[in-house]
Amino acid sequence: MPVSVVVGAQWGDEAKGKIVDLLAQRARYVVRYAGGSNAGHTVCTNGTTYKFHLIPSGILHPHVIAVIADGVVMDLRAFSIEAAALREQGVSLDRLRIGLGVHLTMPYHRLLDELEEAQLEGRIGTTKRGIGPTYADKAWRIGIRVADLLERDRLAARVRRVLQRRNPTIERVYGAKPLDPDALIEEYWGYAEQIRPYVCDVPHLLLRALEQDEPILMEGAQGTLLDLDYGTYPYVTSSHPVAAGACLGTGIAPNRLTEIWGVAKAYTTRVGEGPFPTELTDDTGDRIRNRGREYGTTTGRARRVGWLDLVALRYAARINGFTALAVTLLDVLSGFPTLKVCVAYRHAGRETREFVADAPALARCEPVYVELPGWEQEIDRCRSLEELPANARAYLHCIEEYVGVPIKLISVGAQREQTIVV
Ligand code: IMP
Repeated sequence: MPVSVVVGAQWGDEAKGKIVDLLAQRARYVVRYAGGSNAGHTVCTNGTTYKFHLIPSGILHPHVIAVIADGVVMDLRAFSIEAAALREQGVSLDRLRIGLGVHLTMPYHRLLDELEEAQLEGRIGTTKRGIGPTYADKAWRIGIRVADLLERDRLAARVRRVLQRRNPTIERVYGAKPLDPDALIEEYWGYAEQIRPYVCDVPHLLLRALEQDEPILMEGAQGTLLDLDYGTYPYVTSSHPVAAGACLGTGIAPNRLTEIWGVAKAYTTRVGEGPFPTELTDDTGDRIRNRGREYGTTTGRARRVGWLDLVALRYAARINGFTALAVTLLDVLSGFPTLKVCVAYRHAGRETREFVADAPALARCEPVYVELPGWEQEIDRCRSLEELPANARAYLHCIEEYVGVPIKLISVGAQREQTIVV
């Protein structure tokens, strides 16, 4: 039975939600393995649009058990809003499971993220959802986990301990108002009752599922180039979106993975600060942004837009070990007379096909492009490779050749059925 991972191959926002939704049709477990409510997935089906930040979108399939695994960080205020919105849309959360080891993003994490981002120097352009401070506390071993939340005394002790450290920073470094531990304990004890029915030991749940040969689909958030170690540090998120992160975040051993899907847009986008060699700041960029509706699901920010960067995509394929690619938003590129793809960087006086992850060095790289002929007609009604214009097929072929991974899914619109299965 497949144990699949779906990974963002670029800087996030690759429309992974749609690919997960398609692959979830044959999964029993759909598992979120990293990140928190910085992510945003939109799934459109039967004329309804569902928005997800924390809850795996697989919950929309009645046969699926949707799991928030221990590698995820969870903001319970945000969760509570998301859960209420989904229930209102008629989605049952009975099949939701939340790991005991999930770390909680607390109000002081969000506050610290906001205060840090308000400084001009060193801004990362985060989503201000408290992700970095949560993972920092996890590594510092003062974090609060779901397991702590379930016992009032334990929760109280953890909250007091962490605020002894975080309140002085809030007050003295940023000049902001410290948080009241008693109020936090009270509020979070309330959330404990809300999530208790869903809490379980996720590694054991998934190991049992493996023994019983149940199909598992692991859903990444963000993208490879935002990985804490393999992305463009410091302009990264604080978790591990890469495929190896799926093993860390769930307890599933690397040799159990059978499929690693890379999801890439037919062009590139980035949100927040950081180098972006193929960025377009001209009319072409505006046109792609408008056609692709490139505005963040979580923050509403306009995304930076650029040509497809094959150097970065090949790097992602090698770091993750992609066994298949899903190319999304191909329809956005209709109507351009020619399309550029970046096949090398000019760096320190020479050309290279190797991605440069060091942010200052990447900022100095110049893209080397090849130009491919575009196609005029809209392709959102195409349902097979043969129906695509020859130049669109040639564009896809160029990606496959360069990256060395077969393209098995092509998305030509937001709806489930606007998909070509190769
Ligand atoms: P953080 O994850 O909020 O700490 O933000 C760190 C970096 O990751 C910033 O550049 C964000 O814009 C980016 N980022 C975080 N989540 C997403 C996402 O879901 N899509 C795209 N970029 C993201």
